[in-house]
Amino acid sequence: MTTHAIRGTFFDFVDDPWKHVGDEEASARFVSDGLLVVDDGIIVAFGPYDELSAEYGDVETTHIEHRIITPGFIDGHIHFPQTRVLGAFGEQLLPWLQKWIFPEEARYAERSYAHEAAGRFFDNLLASGTTTVQAFTSSAPVCTEEFFEEATRRNMRVISGLTGIDQNAPDYFVDTPENFYADSKALIEKYHNVGRNLYAITPRFAFGASPELLQKCAQLKTEHPDAWVHTHISENPAEVRGVGAVHPGADDYLAVYEKYDLVGPKFTGGHAVWLSNSEYKRIHDADAAVTFCPNSNLFLGSGMFRLGKATDPDERVRMTFGTDMGGGNRFSMLAVLDGAYKVGMINNTLLDGSVDPSLKDTAEAERNKLSAYRAFWSITLGGAEGLYIDDRVGSFQVGKEADFVALDWTAGPPGADWHSSLIADGGDPVTVDDAANMLFGIMIVGDERAVDQTWVMGTKVYQQSIVDESTYSAV
Ligand code: GUN
Ligand code: ZN
Repeated sequence: MTTHAIRGTFFDFVDDPWKHVGDEEASARFVSDGLLVVDDGIIVAFGPYDELSAEYGDVETTHIEHRIITPGFIDGHIHFPQTRVLGAFGEQLLPWLQKWIFPEEARYAERSYAHEAAGRFFDNLLASGTTTVQAFTSSAPVCTEEFFEEATRRNMRVISGLTGIDQNAPDYFVDTPENFYADSKALIEKYHNVGRNLYAITPRFAFGASPELLQKCAQLKTEHPDAWVHTHISENPAEVRGVGAVHPGADDYLAVYEKYDLVGPKFTGGHAVWLSNSEYKRIHDADAAVTFCPNSNLFLGSGMFRLGKATDPDERVRMTFGTDMGGGNRFSMLAVLDGAYKVGMINNTLLDGSVDPSLKDTAEAERNKLSAYRAFWSITLGGAEGLYIDDRVGSFQVGKEADFVALDWTAGPPGADWHSSLIADGGDPVTVDDAANMLFGIMIVGDERAVDQTWVMGTKVYQQSIVDESTYSAV
């Protein structure tokens, strides 16, 4: 019998909190003493312990105490072969790629290098509470293979694909459209829908993709219509100008991808910092998605994502949040929430009309405010919706895959007087608002140390030892 249960304090979502302005708790589901019953990795029952204990009282149960259990975090945009190149000084996007990123990613053509990095990559994800990623690999098929092989060993729900680039990179790094097509095709056949792996046709960005490469992407999408499409869009002003120069017929950045029929459901454009209102509207109409990567956008000086624009109810776009590691220098989605909150606050200074009162936009400013509800929805159910995988992950709904994380609101720097530093630490949360206040504290003040346990398909795959009380007080 493979059925077992987890008892504890659960917090997930049943709806989008941006649809519940003034009443956000209606989007959340808080069960202070709950039971999650898992069979073969799939959730078969979820609810208050009192209600379920009669039926499931005899099932082997793990009791997780003094933690908030949320669905596993979803990182909508991350670069596997940048695992070893964090903290690269001094450049914005295009020179950063040339100086630091392409030379490092080229090393992933060697299987042993890619293999060793894959272990580190997934270890870091799980230690950060991330159970699902949509990831770039490099332009070498062995890199993509090592990614999927390690994901398979960990039994994690992932989306990834060979990352195509055939121009504006050194000769040693560019691929040809023909090789990209043939290699992508073989990888789709080997990995797409195999286990928990999903395949994304992945042109790196329009600046690095010739019309011929994008034509091959279009062909792949026609031949594999259920595959995902993942790329970058409008990240940095120099890049946006460059795209205008290398695709002279296109009216704007999105038009390049539209021309090759890539923009629709399951399309994600990462960063989306400099999109025009027209591009936002077309992404909305296409039911496509963008990714907000605040820490990368700040680190590379790319710009400020318009959270309040992306969440405009009249033209809402699907959205994931992403680390963009190594553009973002952390694996932690909690760190992404910290950055995202601050970007929203800065955006509101700009929207406040402080320079030109006619620019004041109160409604967009309200949507820029990243409450804990909006934040944790974005990296769980909202992220799953952005990636079109909300039928499989993102909440504790029965039938979904049991990926979750147990957060410790008291975990912090060893030796510091952490227990009194979190404003919301009044002991175990009793109400949904208590829980939301603690989650806000965790995302702003906490870090990876707040991730106590990570579970994949109902199996504990990560446990942090430092948060053990006896270890903690001994430090
Ligand atoms: N655009 C094209 N490649 C990359 C990359 O590796 N990182 C980021 N942030 N943007 C890109
Ligand atoms: Zn990226």
